[in-house]
Amino acid sequence: NKGTYEHYMQKEIHEQPESLKTTMRGRLIRGGFHKAKSVLLGGLKDHLKTIRRSRRIVFIGCGTSYNAALAARPILEELSGVPVTLEIASDLLDRQGPIYREDTAVFVSQSGETADTLHALQYALENGALCVGITNTVGSAIARNTHCGIHINAGCEIGVASTKAYTSQIVVMAMMALAIGDDTISSLSRREAIIDGLFDLPNKVKEVLKLDQEMKDLAKQLMAEQSLLVFGRGYNYATALEGALKVKEVALMHSEGILAGEMKHGPLALVDENLSILVIATHDACFSKQQSVIQQLHARKGRLIVMCSKGEASLVCPSVSVRVIEVPQVEDCLQPVINIIPLQLLSYHLTVLRGYNVDQPRNLAKSVTTQ
Ligand code: F6R
Repeated sequence: NKGTYEHYMQKEIHEQPESLKTTMRGRLIRGGFHKAKSVLLGGLKDHLKTIRRSRRIVFIGCGTSYNAALAARPILEELSGVPVTLEIASDLLDRQGPIYREDTAVFVSQSGETADTLHALQYALENGALCVGITNTVGSAIARNTHCGIHINAGCEIGVASTKAYTSQIVVMAMMALAIGDDTISSLSRREAIIDGLFDLPNKVKEVLKLDQEMKDLAKQLMAEQSLLVFGRGYNYATALEGALKVKEVALMHSEGILAGEMKHGPLALVDENLSILVIATHDACFSKQQSVIQQLHARKGRLIVMCSKGEASLVCPSVSVRVIEVPQVEDCLQPVINIIPLQLLSYHLTVLRGYNVDQPRNLAKSVTTQ
């Protein structure tokens, strides 16, 4: 049921304050006198010791689910202290890459039925790894065949383009990072800031959804373009990849997510006055590097759109010709949840304006059950 919305994708984008609440329900502990704020993940608690002792944690998925793991990797590395690697399921299988008994392999999948991810799970089980599932579908093949796991609880996602499952997956993995991480004094304030940030996240998502009309206007500006590049780095490299994936899969426009640190190693050659480029430059440890990327893209006359933290437009704008998207700032590791939303809205409006099928893009299926 689409309710008052025209498309499922639109409904699912706007549902995110609620879907995130459902994802976190019962899992965050507010703490209090003598009791630290913490996270409780029932499906994982008997395996946390094994995960902490593993040689590495490898996240495996496809498409948007892979991007969600990429978004969560920095906080997983920071809080767990265990090396974290990522694998696209089909690529792991193509290479028959090494998976060991001492590994924890985490399978991320909205449907829980994706053939590549499922085959990679079989492969990891044969190699003796501890297998963890992160899925949105109770009773799915991946949920059933892993040793333990976390349900995303984002509610049924019908639009082929994944939106609310993505943001909930990031939140699940941030909670997983908190659960794996030790309660040391040195990490206490960081952990508490993240937990506070999680509690407040649905409100911040509500706030960023108010950019809907602004994204519709931007879509009008961009609808006839051949291509859109999206530059990100650090916590928001994933936002660049995921934003570009949304634009190409539903709006059928060429789009590429680019790691900003790679700009001078090739992509800069593409930049001229005809190329639209969206740069994600919200405030975090990479901010000054992103400021310099913006300067250089501007010097080569790229048509810039910059996403920045509220109140910082003047810090990222080399000239009035640059279009700015201001978003609420949250804890750095949760910022990808906020930053993807304007890009989801943009790809939605681009699709409608270009006259394509929003919920059922040509050639794609919601659940890819063949290899
Ligand atoms: C993109 C999209 C796909 C899926 C991918 C994995 O919007 O929906 O890229 O993310 O096919 O699907 P799941 O998460 O069901 O394994």
